[in-house]
Amino acid sequence: MDIARTPSNPAGNPEMADAAVEPVDPATIFRKNYTPPSWLVPEIRLDFDLGTELTKCVATLKVERNPAGDGDQTLHLCGDNLAVMSLKVDGADAEGWSMSGSNLLLPLTGTSHEVTIETHLHPATNSQLMGLYASSGMLCTQCEAEGFRRITFFPDRPDVLSKYTVRMEGDKETFPVLLSNGNLVETGEGEAGRHWALWDDPWPKPSYLFALVAGQLVANRDTFTTMNGRKVELAVWVREGDLERTDHAMRSLINSMKWDEETFGREYDLDQFNIVAVSDFNMGAMENKGLNIFNTRYVLADPETATDGDYDGVEGVVGHEYFHNWSGNRITCRDWFQLSLKEGFTVLRDQMFSADMGSEPVKRIEDVRVLRAAQFPEDSGPLAHPIRPDSYQEISNFYTATVYNKGAEVIRMMHTMAGPEAFRKGTDLYFERHDGEAATCEDFVKAMEDGAGLDLAQFRLWYEQAGTPKVTMRAEFDQSEGAVTLHFTQKVPATPGQPSKKAMPIPIKVALFDRDTKAHDGEKLLIVDKDKAEFTFKGFTRPPVISANRGFTAPIQLDAEQGDDDLVFLAANDDDAFARYEALQQLVTRELLGAIENGPDEKRRTAIADAMGAVLDDTQIDDLMRGELMMMPAVTFLLELAAPADPVALHDARERLKGYIGSRLRDRLIALHERASAIGYSLSAEARGARKVKTQALVLLSAADAKEAAARAEAQYRAADNMTDRQGALMVLAGIDCPARAELLEDFRKRFEGNALVTDKWFALQAGSLDPMVLDTVEALSNHADFTIKNPNRVRSLYMTMAVNQPAFHEESGRGYRMIADLVLKLDPLNAQTAARFIPALGRWRKIEPKRAAMMRAELERIAKAEGLSKDTREQVTKSLD
Ligand code: ARG
Ligand code: ZN
Repeated sequence: MDIARTPSNPAGNPEMADAAVEPVDPATIFRKNYTPPSWLVPEIRLDFDLGTELTKCVATLKVERNPAGDGDQTLHLCGDNLAVMSLKVDGADAEGWSMSGSNLLLPLTGTSHEVTIETHLHPATNSQLMGLYASSGMLCTQCEAEGFRRITFFPDRPDVLSKYTVRMEGDKETFPVLLSNGNLVETGEGEAGRHWALWDDPWPKPSYLFALVAGQLVANRDTFTTMNGRKVELAVWVREGDLERTDHAMRSLINSMKWDEETFGREYDLDQFNIVAVSDFNMGAMENKGLNIFNTRYVLADPETATDGDYDGVEGVVGHEYFHNWSGNRITCRDWFQLSLKEGFTVLRDQMFSADMGSEPVKRIEDVRVLRAAQFPEDSGPLAHPIRPDSYQEISNFYTATVYNKGAEVIRMMHTMAGPEAFRKGTDLYFERHDGEAATCEDFVKAMEDGAGLDLAQFRLWYEQAGTPKVTMRAEFDQSEGAVTLHFTQKVPATPGQPSKKAMPIPIKVALFDRDTKAHDGEKLLIVDKDKAEFTFKGFTRPPVISANRGFTAPIQLDAEQGDDDLVFLAANDDDAFARYEALQQLVTRELLGAIENGPDEKRRTAIADAMGAVLDDTQIDDLMRGELMMMPAVTFLLELAAPADPVALHDARERLKGYIGSRLRDRLIALHERASAIGYSLSAEARGARKVKTQALVLLSAADAKEAAARAEAQYRAADNMTDRQGALMVLAGIDCPARAELLEDFRKRFEGNALVTDKWFALQAGSLDPMVLDTVEALSNHADFTIKNPNRVRSLYMTMAVNQPAFHEESGRGYRMIADLVLKLDPLNAQTAARFIPALGRWRKIEPKRAAMMRAELERIAKAEGLSKDTREQVTKSLD
């Protein structure tokens, strides 16, 4: 029987496939309402008849009543834009089933049944890029979090684990490569040029880890032998012309596999591991079991087209997805409120991996910079949420810097408190205890307590409370006792739904430096676990200089009430690389916040330029670290401290300080640029460091002497044999009004015509430029032949770059806000997930001075009024206006 009925979306009508049909007031889902599933699906077989326009899917589910469930006789199957084409129970046409919204309700009589469902999918018109979709001719899937329900009706929740068998059949010419999870068990030829493949995944998994890929792909192949001698076939699949850009991804994969064995004792568990690169992708990548699917930007890299930063991105994301095999797949999440269980932990794991592959202190500084620029604003804004949220409307909105990056910081604090060996005991116990389960954050914390021997009773507040703690530190010196006392206070600010907070345990590493010997007697780990806490240290004859939150042991805003002199001392002498960076950042931050109120402070500016000069001269540090020390704090981070403020005034003050430093250190910056330019291309730390300081020198110089900087940037561009130098030079040039700007931008475009990832860079270079005409440029580029709203990378390269370009986005007339709102309205019906990502920029209005804030709000209101808004955008807009 062919039953094609569904309330709102007639089957087989591709135009309807992605019409946003959402209730006006989307339901809020609460963590406290979790109940176990009433039915389990121990096994599922999927049969795909593949086609770009139409793919037919027959799913056969073995369902069993869950003894731990509530006894509900009705099987609840989630669906999204699906129609039932056929439905059978134990081989006979199903009876009594009904639709509830887009979900399917099937009453059953026994305790175990076989349910067979046919659905029809339309990959070519699936612009949401969730479920099964087409991307430049190939078919691929994205199921996390709730995309599997766009493929078939299923209990699409992570605590239902099934063994998957997948058969795919299709035209051999269109889909020569057929991939799914697990191991390839059989292939065969069909009629009329068709062929098929049968895949079997022995590891039970939740539906969000299902994946399928079919298309014209070629592979970079290698092998890895695990610590117990399992030989694994590795493949990185890309489109034909991209093969030569896959070596770095492959190398990163092999390094990840080895590292996870050595560092966490985790071994891979299948005979195959496949990575596929896809150019249309909402996020970075996806850890589907044995078949990771990646945004091309995190796979493809070669010196000509990828910067050193891109190389790091590939390494980090390849590691991240691979590490998920244990932290995510072998142990998954009970429900989506537990997302940080896998994401926070896996981000920490990828950070540790990258640190081990490169420079640990530089990696730490980069990670803290991201946290401060992206997570701190989130944590103090209308969308603030704990790393384990209590409620959501659309789970896609919770793939955030808080769940990911603050989640990693929270586990890092456990690592700091336990020390590396005890921490490893904790993770060993976690993996052993919960292997094969859908676990909770609480399970992780408990395993850490039992395995690492930590008492985390109060620490659990880090999972419950949102908001970045504000900590103050004041040092008091008692000459007669020879004692110094550190007085701490902490306050966790109110956040939406959480008006009052409790004190949390905050691990802070400190060192007390003698001013004359410039030495200290070892680091101390202090735990500030009350509103007020004090710690006394004896044996001092004069007040020491306090180096606090060394290594950034806690994700807090620390105000260490220190004089400029102490910061200058630490910037010059601290032996903790992070603390040294931090001291200089503090000094700069203080200067910039003061400058927008009272103009520059001559003495402090001089001190900053002197400190920066010392950084340029210091032979003890490598260029990678030097490059970090040369960077100014982000305006978004400054806004956290100054809010509400005029972001353009902050930006201007920042440019002026750069100009001051640039003119004070002009000769030394030029000398640095020359020295670094003489070092040839390689991926060694030395050569990478040289490229980093080369561009940083131009950045400072350009604020002081645009002509000199433009000439050097032009020379750097013309001499470049790699993308790091080329992009760095063009970034500087794009902000300077000079003839070379237009010429070299055009040269860049032509040189890389047809390369999508470099074309993204071309858009971003212009949208991120300091050119005052930047909004005109963005508008013109939105009509450029190479712009398409359908590709998330392209949309982000133009519009996300503009939204974070402070003087552009906050342009006085409100035009930047208007352009982002227009984009959201246009993009939302096509790709809700990507559209919703633009709301937080407008939602930050409380941090901005009243005139602009009113315009930002007005744009949010305009979006809120639109009809048929997606659940994703609706949730973000509503919360941002509250
Ligand atoms: N689990 C993926 C990762 O972090 C992210 C997938 C998120 N996808 C989404 N559509 N929200 O590795
Ligand atoms: Zn992840």
